[in-house]
Amino acid sequence: MNIKTAEFVISNTDYRICPAPKMAEYAFIGRSNVGKSSLINALVNQKNLAKTSGRPGKTQLINHFIINKGWYLVDLPGFGYAKISKTKRAEFHDMISEYLLNRTNLMCLFVLIDSRHKPQGIDQEFMQWLAEKGIPFVMVFTKIDKLGKVVLIKNIRAYKVEMLKLWAELPQIFITSAEKKTGTKELCNFIEQLNSQFKETI
Ligand code: GTP
Ligand code: MG
Repeated sequence: MNIKTAEFVISNTDYRICPAPKMAEYAFIGRSNVGKSSLINALVNQKNLAKTSGRPGKTQLINHFIINKGWYLVDLPGFGYAKISKTKRAEFHDMISEYLLNRTNLMCLFVLIDSRHKPQGIDQEFMQWLAEKGIPFVMVFTKIDKLGKVVLIKNIRAYKVEMLKLWAELPQIFITSAEKKTGTKELCNFIEQLNSQFKETI
């Protein structure tokens, strides 16, 4: 699938005022600074559609982008960011969980994981929660350009081993670099497949 157009639609804090759920939607989530906004930009081939930053905590709203005038990409705030107040963190938590639990057109959530890091409890707990709630998701390893091949393979294997202590089977996994655009074709193809399923169900 080629991405021909990608436009910003709206930012907000409440799933109830997101665009009407009439088109397939894919959201990006993960710890602050993992590369959510950058990967959206890489997918749509634009530098600044989603706002990125070297400092964690950049994205603070639910941001909708419409792609090829037919489906949505959604940039969400990061979780696990230490430097925000407890109140703000609780607000983010509620905003994101309400969105995930109620957004009927969410075809798949992309859970981003920094390929450089060891499995983190916060990611594991979050994926467990998604599974409990029946929210469809895949895992997306990011920033692979920052690692050599051998270390990358080792890290991903270690991640799988850790996951398999808790899971009977692993979720689908994508391996990406926003910097080098690695894995963007695979993600686009995956979305294309799901888009066709969305059409069949309406
Ligand atoms: P929040 O919105 O704060 O939660 O962060 P985010 O997950 O949206 O991360 P963002 O895309 O803003 O990227 C964070 C930093 O990582 C930026 O400095 C990016 O340039 C860098 N970055 C993101 N993806 C990649 C990548 O694939 N490779 C490299 N080398 N750097 C990346
Ligand atoms: Mg962001």
